[in-house]
Amino acid sequence: MRIRSARGSDKDTVLGFCKDTFLWGDYIADVWDKWNLKGGLYVLEENDSVVGVYHIDFFKKETWVEGMRVHPQHRKKGFGTKMLTHAESVTQNKVIRLIIESENHPSIKLAKSMGYEIEEKWRLCYMIPAKQESSATIATFSAQLGGIASSSTYANSWRWLPLDDEEIRNLIEQKRIIISTKEGKTMAAGIWSQSNDFPQIFQFAFVSGIEEGMLYILRYIQNMAYDLNFERIQVFIQEKISIKANFLDKGSLFYLMKKELH
Ligand SMILES: CC(C)(COP(=O)(O)OP(=O)(O)OC[C@H]1O[C@@H](n2cnc3c(N)ncnc32)[C@H](O)[C@@H]1OP(=O)(O)O)[C@@H](O)C(=O)NCCC(=O)NCCS
Repeated sequence: MRIRSARGSDKDTVLGFCKDTFLWGDYIADVWDKWNLKGGLYVLEENDSVVGVYHIDFFKKETWVEGMRVHPQHRKKGFGTKMLTHAESVTQNKVIRLIIESENHPSIKLAKSMGYEIEEKWRLCYMIPAKQESSATIATFSAQLGGIASSSTYANSWRWLPLDDEEIRNLIEQKRIIISTKEGKTMAAGIWSQSNDFPQIFQFAFVSGIEEGMLYILRYIQNMAYDLNFERIQVFIQEKISIKANFLDKGSLFYLMKKELH
């Protein structure tokens, strides 16, 4: 068994065993070229055949692992564990994160067996872009959000990154934080992003909020996505935040998993 950087010539083999990973298929075919070009794409070889793949992305304060797949006929032989161990060995960062759908028990078991813990539970919801009126606004200074953030990470194109004061300042500069206020107090706040891999999808994640404020923000986001001609909006809401809106369809629950390396 060996793990090495992926080559262009591995593509057909990998896509061959990744076609039907999930009931809906898989997204590896959509991201392969981009990940391969960017680097951090690894394959696992057993007896000269490629039977595993994963991608790693290094950020300033964390390392993100994604797209791990083992050929269906080679599962439960320890290859997933080998790839995650490899990911830990090639990073200088102290924190590694990954996201797993809550029903994906093999994957959760693998992560837990290697010391990863559930940091936060995020529900994926969907909305359709629409013309809407809303009193929510783009935040212009950190204090509007800093004190009320109820999450230590935020979703940025399916990667959850640390949300600290420095990142909040950056996001404010990029006009990516939306807030809703009442009598000078912030009721809710969230951060939008555009999917790197699926540019037609607009994304939004709440980082804090009470229901009234979140509803204003959701309408603001619907309007923003409508004006920008997006087809669909993915909204991530922490499971601990409750919100009911008839224009928001609830989807799967995801576990954000984290390990601190020593
Ligand atoms: C998740 C996946 C990568 C695991 O790869 P793997 O090579 O089979 O994993 P390992 O053999 O290293 O197993 C690791 C641990 O998970 C457990 N495990 C793996 N598959 C399991 C299954 N189907 N049911 C129960 N436990 C399972 C193993 O028992 C092992 O635990 P242990 O060390 O306590 O014995 C593989 O199942 C896969 O490709 N799944 C489809 C893609 C996917 O879900 N990717 C992750 C998306 S986040």
